[in-house]
Amino acid sequence: MTGSKTAKPFLKWAGGKTQLINDIERILPKKIYNNTFTYIEPFVGSGAVLFWMLNNFPKLEKVVINDINQDLINTYKIIASRPQELISILEIFQHEFHALEGNEDNKKVYYYQKRDLYNTRKQESSEQAALFIFLNRTCFNGLYRVNRKNEYNVPMGGYKRPTICDKENIWIVSDALQKVEILCGDFEETLHLATPNSLFYFDPPYKPLSETSSFNSYAKDIFNDQEQIRLRDFCAKLDTLNHTWILSNSDVKSEDNSDNFFDNLYANFSIQRVDARRNINANSEKRGLLKELLITNQTNSKKYTRAF
Ligand SMILES: C[S@@+](CC[C@H](N)C(=O)[O-])C[C@H]1O[C@@H](n2cnc3c(N)ncnc32)[C@H](O)[C@@H]1O
Repeated sequence: MTGSKTAKPFLKWAGGKTQLINDIERILPKKIYNNTFTYIEPFVGSGAVLFWMLNNFPKLEKVVINDINQDLINTYKIIASRPQELISILEIFQHEFHALEGNEDNKKVYYYQKRDLYNTRKQESSEQAALFIFLNRTCFNGLYRVNRKNEYNVPMGGYKRPTICDKENIWIVSDALQKVEILCGDFEETLHLATPNSLFYFDPPYKPLSETSSFNSYAKDIFNDQEQIRLRDFCAKLDTLNHTWILSNSDVKSEDNSDNFFDNLYANFSIQRVDARRNINANSEKRGLLKELLITNQTNSKKYTRAF
């Protein structure tokens, strides 16, 4: 059924990490190539790094993913447990939506009906997951944005015959997720599933570079500076517990040279600046010129001669 193809993200997601993977690979602890280990991703989003890890590290013994977005996590769980049911619903959505091609008004009516239905959150969980994927595939720029009432409010995108049901990938992802423990909650709750050989990768909502570039509202609660500080405190705790972690975030200093927010916050750890090509930036001239931060606790002091 799945052939030799590898699992890839089944969603478009703001901050998708596909282009950062080479940089992450460069700073991975070398011992994960030889030893079994646990991989934990507390802000999984569309899982670009997760799927890369699953495809490339057969020695991964245990995998834990988490996100605070309940609809996203419901979708992961449905893909893992009921792929055929999900595919059947998505095939209907795709057939119906493609049949409206050429008639923008009717496409819009269909899209907004599905969006309203999604926002009632009263469907069966497999239908809710299908609506989640449908909206992701047909909305403007693949954005996920909700208002304070947790109502998804992204308008329709302009795609012609978008792929709504990528059947083959859903089967491959479903297979890959069989060894993954899927949690929905705050990032700190992942700690109790860590083992002594754990590697954490954190990709939190990025600190906005400016007011106009703010696209970090994936969930109804805003991830503000206090949250960034809480995350740093959690990373410091993991460090004292001898876990290894890698974290990415926006490089606010590349926008404003006097902004040392992350340099100060992570002064005790190793900070690298890497090129980033972010898709979501209100200012199109700035797309392609940005730097991103990769921060880790594993290379910067003698402490890190331990297990990894
Ligand atoms: C930058 S995105 C992750 C992008 C992802 N790595 C990818 O490749 O697509 C950040 C994620 O953090 C989640 N999130 C926000 N606050 C959270 C919290 N307190 N605990 C766990 N997840 C949270 C959001 O729902 C969102 O999916």
